[in-house]
Amino acid sequence: MNLIPVGVLGTGRHVPERILTNQDLEKMVDTNDEWIRTRTGMRERRIARPDEAASDLSVPAAQEALKRAGITAADLDLIIVATVTPDMAFPSTACILQEKLGAKKAAAYDLSAACTGFIYGLANASNFIALGTYKYALIVGVEVLSKITDYTDRNTCVLFGDGAGAVVLGAVPEGHGFQSFELGADGAGGELLKLEGGGSRNPSSPASIEQKLHYLYMAGAEVFKFAVRVMGSAAEEALRKAGLTKEDIDLLVPHQANIRIIQSALHRLHVPEEKCMINLDRYGNVGAASIPMALAEAAETGRVKEGDRIVMVGFGAGLTWGASVLVW
Ligand code: ACO
Repeated sequence: MNLIPVGVLGTGRHVPERILTNQDLEKMVDTNDEWIRTRTGMRERRIARPDEAASDLSVPAAQEALKRAGITAADLDLIIVATVTPDMAFPSTACILQEKLGAKKAAAYDLSAACTGFIYGLANASNFIALGTYKYALIVGVEVLSKITDYTDRNTCVLFGDGAGAVVLGAVPEGHGFQSFELGADGAGGELLKLEGGGSRNPSSPASIEQKLHYLYMAGAEVFKFAVRVMGSAAEEALRKAGLTKEDIDLLVPHQANIRIIQSALHRLHVPEEKCMINLDRYGNVGAASIPMALAEAAETGRVKEGDRIVMVGFGAGLTWGASVLVW
């Protein structure tokens, strides 16, 4: 069976206007700019308005990706939204986005793999296109993490921000597009990173609010160790599946969780920092949006040219991880 080569036809990104700086955080919790910069690499992050939800951030990112791909929303066959901060439990944010974009013929669903969700979404959608089931797919990574962050907890509130990144996938010339995917999960680590409230285990109640179950919980040091291990191994496995080596990497686009996690991945992969897309200094950790936002910025700013081999790699709650090799 002949598979159709699948690649990225267009990228887009969008962030809310409001900026929350390290100096602002100094006034909110017992922290300081120096600690945040040296321990995380972050300087500022974007925060959505009270009335702004995931689908609102997704629309401009998606429209930009459609424009760059040279197609309209009506051409889309599939919309996948990767997020842990959907507008609501259901309907899916993908369905809300489908309506807002006017993508009348597109199938639409959300995908829950936390910060790895965008890579999982790419793998999902590219299979449909490779088999000829669909022609065009929109994958959006979006988070409004400020709405599930406890701004009295200095261990987490300095890390997260809001934003959206989007790509349109479709057929590309032979030799281009996705060369491999490496996806993984380890449910045993589920306790390390979670939001317990509001599901069927702990429905919303005065008690769930009292116990702060509607805020993101993170065992930071354990997640850090997992991330350092898995970022390198997932990227190496994706390269191996693509028949490439570390030396072949033209651009690394990693999940933007912490500069020290990224630096350790660069060290292991022998990739110099100038071959790595980093934007966490301006946006913090934007969950599932961080890889597509970084990819869109790389495309817009001329960091990638035709034929470049891009390695995207991420990790997140679940625990989950994923990597992909993409020839631009
Ligand atoms: N300002 C000042 N001090 C702080 C702050 C802060 N904002 N946060 C923590 N500290 C303190 C701690 O309380 C601790 O103090 P103590 O020694 O008196 O107890 C000290 O700093 C050191 O704490 P560590 O946890 O050892 O700090 P570390 O260097 O590990 O950095 C961090 C913490 C940034 C959270 C790091 O562990 C990390 O990045 N972890 C991974 C985070 C991550 O990748 N999350 C992914 C989430 S993805 C998703 O699904 C949304």
